[in-house]
Amino acid sequence: MPGATDRVSKSAMERARALLREAQRVVVLTGAGVSAESGVPTFRGAGGLWKEYRAEDLATPEAFARDPRLVWEWYGWRRRVVQQCMPNAAHVALAAAARARAGFRIVTQNVDGLHAAAARAPNAMPLELHGSLFRVRCTVCTERREEDGAIDATSRETLPTCASCGALARPDIVWFGEALDSAVLGEAVTLASSADVCLVVGTSALVHPAAGLADLTRRNGGSVIEVNVADTPLTGTATVALRGPAAVIVPELLAGESTE
Ligand code: APR
Repeated sequence: MPGATDRVSKSAMERARALLREAQRVVVLTGAGVSAESGVPTFRGAGGLWKEYRAEDLATPEAFARDPRLVWEWYGWRRRVVQQCMPNAAHVALAAAARARAGFRIVTQNVDGLHAAAARAPNAMPLELHGSLFRVRCTVCTERREEDGAIDATSRETLPTCASCGALARPDIVWFGEALDSAVLGEAVTLASSADVCLVVGTSALVHPAAGLADLTRRNGGSVIEVNVADTPLTGTATVALRGPAAVIVPELLAGESTE
């Protein structure tokens, strides 16, 4: 495989490495693109559709209220897809950097659990902005639980229910039109505002408030490094934009960060 510097200009890669070396605090913001080389379909790219539905048609409270069976069937499919995927070289390199240096935190929009699977230590665990495919929560009470089993969506009666009150359970995921958990968002805002570098990997930077985190870093005097296969709304203001697949660029960018 060609090295990342064959695709990306050497000076851009060197500049990004120098920014990371000099930074005390680094926040990494990832999106679906970081998991693309693991085989997880991105939302807005090819393969982002399930049957004829787009994510925006199913990942909403209205869609769940209208047809919980259909929405659970989709999440059951997504669980099965992700369970066949492994963390790729980008997840592994980010986790190693987080283990190796204090002040390096991973914040993800992904619900696929692949950063957590690569973590191997508490300080490499990601802050999951949009929840997890592997947690459910009650639609009535406050019950939440980890769950990674198959979903039986053959009828409304077979869908997951709350272990304490018996009401219908839902994926513990932040849907379109819903607010992020305020404690989780507050932590992400603090990390982004105080970061010397925000490293943005594989996100279309379209969905707020996550998309605004890099701007917080920039407005507070920090730098933004973007890794993506395509331009995004962030590219114009990024300090350095590295074009290419995350699983190639990120390990090369972080080479030498960890001594493991
Ligand atoms: N390496 C790097 N970037 C990649 C790769 C790759 N191999 N493959 C795709 N990308 C980029 C695409 O160019 C795009 O900019 O990853 C981005 C994926 O964008 P989306 O599919 O829109 O995913 P994301 O930005 O994570 O979506 C944000 O929207 O659907 C909701 O809540 C959901 O968390 C999700 C949020």
